[in-house]
Amino acid sequence: MFNKELFSEYIKAEILGKNLLLFDKLDSTNTYLLENDFEVGTVAVANNQINGKGRSGRSWFNSDKGLAFSVVLPILEPKYLLPINIIAGFSVIDALKKYVPIKLKWPNDCVINGKKVCGILIDTSFNGSILDKVVLGIGLNIDKVEFPIDIKDKATFLNKWSNVKLQREFILAKILNKLENYINLFINNNFDIVSLWKDYSDNLDKEISIHINGNISKYVEKGINYDGCLIVINDAGKEDLILSGEIGYDFSS
Ligand code: BTN
Repeated sequence: MFNKELFSEYIKAEILGKNLLLFDKLDSTNTYLLENDFEVGTVAVANNQINGKGRSGRSWFNSDKGLAFSVVLPILEPKYLLPINIIAGFSVIDALKKYVPIKLKWPNDCVINGKKVCGILIDTSFNGSILDKVVLGIGLNIDKVEFPIDIKDKATFLNKWSNVKLQREFILAKILNKLENYINLFINNNFDIVSLWKDYSDNLDKEISIHINGNISKYVEKGINYDGCLIVINDAGKEDLILSGEIGYDFSS
């Protein structure tokens, strides 16, 4: 079970994680926070997530050997959702890069040695055309686990790569500390996602394939722009912008 006292030793964030809700079993931490009213910064952690959601309508593999949590973020303009997705990825990398060789695959899959170790999903709700809730969910594989057959060659877990045994409480606090710091910088127009991407991407200047609606195209990745879109060079040597889609294979089941 998640140890609140241990978590409080590491948490430095002032808003994120102040209200911490722990569940043994939950459908989905994202859905729970989306469907109930909690203040900004509220975090829900589930030991078991029975109906975890992945990107593009897929499901997220459930395991009590990992960390599944969501956090209510401040409401922001919809155009900032993609940059915030990327910033969430930066926060995970910063929390863990001292321990494992972790990198980002656009927009925010966290990978080690090309295998997915963490997935990130932002869910929103609207009141008419007005965005009225933003929930960020993060799923991390931490300890050794039997992955389902369809993802077993594409997924990995943190403690396979770390010399120190990383604990859920420590990881959650470190991610929230970074995330709060980065969101504040971003809101104050003081965060250069474009240059940070160059350091954190697993694929910069490499050949990548992009999957969009069942079509696969080959490109070379050149970075991101300030909207969070991926800048690529296509087969004809021309620059293109990718606004959605996934790089290479995907790891949700
Ligand atoms: C992806 O497909 O890569 C995104 C996966 C996001 C999974 C996390 S686990 C906690 C939170 N609750 C959910 O239902 N999904 C996210």
